[in-house]
This record gives sequence, structure tokens and C-alpha cells, in this order.
Amino acid sequence: MDSITPVNAAQKEALIRRYGADSVPAVGPWNDVIATMLDHRSVRGYKPDPVPAGTLETMIAAAQSAATSSNMQWTSVVAITDPAKKKKLAEWAGNQKHIEQCPLFLCWVTDMARNAAISKAEKVEFETMPWLETFLVASVDVALAAQNAVVAAESIGLGTVYIGAMRNEPEKVAELLGLPPQCFVLFGLCVGYATEQAVGEVKPRMAQAMMLHHERYDASNADAHRQAHDAEMMRFSARQEMQAGTWTQRVLNRLGPITSMNGRERLRQALNRMGFGIR
Ligand SMILES: Cc1cc2nc3c(=O)[nH]c(=O)nc-3n(C[C@H](O)[C@H](O)[C@H](O)COP(=O)(O)O)c2cc1C
Repeated sequence: MDSITPVNAAQKEALIRRYGADSVPAVGPWNDVIATMLDHRSVRGYKPDPVPAGTLETMIAAAQSAATSSNMQWTSVVAITDPAKKKKLAEWAGNQKHIEQCPLFLCWVTDMARNAAISKAEKVEFETMPWLETFLVASVDVALAAQNAVVAAESIGLGTVYIGAMRNEPEKVAELLGLPPQCFVLFGLCVGYATEQAVGEVKPRMAQAMMLHHERYDASNADAHRQAHDAEMMRFSARQEMQAGTWTQRVLNRLGPITSMNGRERLRQALNRMGFGIR
């Protein structure tokens, strides 16, 4: 039985949009789910229209359908529609206007309080709680759940953008949302219908040859691949009338100066004040 769907023009076009014409990977199986994922782009401008009734619950069902490490189900979500709350969150996230604009803002919470409560209720000490490993596992869970929700939203024509800048002021965000200790907003997510201007192009990614290794890690052509990606990103930036820049420049700007962390260099202390006690 042949389970491979026929290679078609739409698939090739989607791969060109994602990688640029010079780095198209081998074509393989294809369907609507994969097409939705390859068509992803972050949306930073929203119409005021609310999301249809039941959309939030559908997104959450998709989120809860993601794998969860040892079935510990570490994720909580706080859904925000209150304009005053979105305004505050936008401000703390460095004045990201799309947070105010989007009709629905989801705060994705690494929630260690819910399972910690079981320790208390059952009078069993949870020795594993304060370790970096447990925090990492919990936060991985949250990210997997959120991405399922994103794919669900995009598959029904909604736009989204993650907001890592919720971690700029984790304690203020937690207080606004009424989070108990051992809960923190890992990231936010704007959800809504994109304005016409905000439907940008798919942003190119590095060639698969740069990140996919077979049997053994091989970075021997990394410089050449990086230069090719830089050239693709320059073309993309010019088309999008974005500040022209290579991917290398973006990495330099983001990872070079400590100021680019916007306060997140204090995260460990903040988390420990919020009850995580990470070792
Ligand atoms: C965890 C995470 C946090 C992010 N935080 C922000 C953010 O605070 N503001 C923003 O405009 N975009 C944010 N983004 C979106 C990225 O900038 C975007 O995904 C990246 O530039 C690639 O573009 P694309 O999503 O359109 O393909 C975030 C993405 C992720 C995965």
C-alpha cells in the first residue's frame, strides 16, 4: 500500500516559501495538516473581531492532546480578553501593541502548584520538585501544549504570535493574573484574525542541511549554509520592508548584548521568589 500522497505543485511552493528556492528539501508525504504547519507565520496586527464561540475550548482541547511528560499535565492557561489587563501586559512586554489589539490573549503557565498541592493533600514529600530537571520538563510540556493550540488556531484561519516578553516582568504578570506560588507565565500568545497588512510572508528558515544530521553531528558546511541563509533573509527583509538584515546580524543583536534580555537575566531570582526554589 502506498501511503505517500502525490507530490504536487502546492507542496513545492510551500517548501520554496519556507526555505527559499535554493534550499528546497526532498519532497515527501503531504496533507492539510503539514500544509498548515508549513504556512505558519507570526501575526502582529489584529482585527477587533472576537474569535468564534468555542474556539478557546477547541484550542485548549488540542493543547491538552499533546504528549505530556509522564502524564504530569503541568500546563495551565489564563485566557485574557479584558482590555485593561491586555494594556498592562502589553506595557510590561515592551509596549507590544498586538497584545492590546488581539481579541484573545492566552497566558501559558508552567504550573507546578497543582501537583505540589497533591504532595500536601497526600502528605508525601515531593523530593523531585525543586530541581531544574523538573522545571524544564514542566516547561517543555507547556510549550508542546501551546504549539498544538497554535496549529489548531492556524488550521481554522486564525493568526497567533507567541510573547516571550511575558518573562520580562514575571512577578508583575503573576500578580495581575492571580497566580499562586510555583506558577509562572512561560509565554503569552496573541490570537485573532490578522489584518490585511499583518499577513506577512512565511519567514524563511535555515536549510535542513544546517540542522538535520544523519547518524552523526556534522557542522563541516555550517559557514556556507549560514551565508546562504543570510542571503535568503536579506531578500526576505527587503520584500517585507523590514530593517534589512541578515540572520547572522539578528543572532548578533539578540545574543550579544545583555540588554537584549530586557530584564530576563533576573529570571532565576524571580522564579525562586515565586516559590520554585530551583536547584
Ligand atoms: C517562545 C517564543 C517567544 C516569542 N516572543 C515574541 C515576542 O515577545 N514578540 C514577538 O513579536 N514575537 C515573538 N515570538 C515570535 C518570533 O519572533 C517568531 O516566531 C520568529 O521570528 C519566526 O517568525 P515566524 O513565527 O513568523 O516564522 C516568539 C516566538 C517564540 C517561539
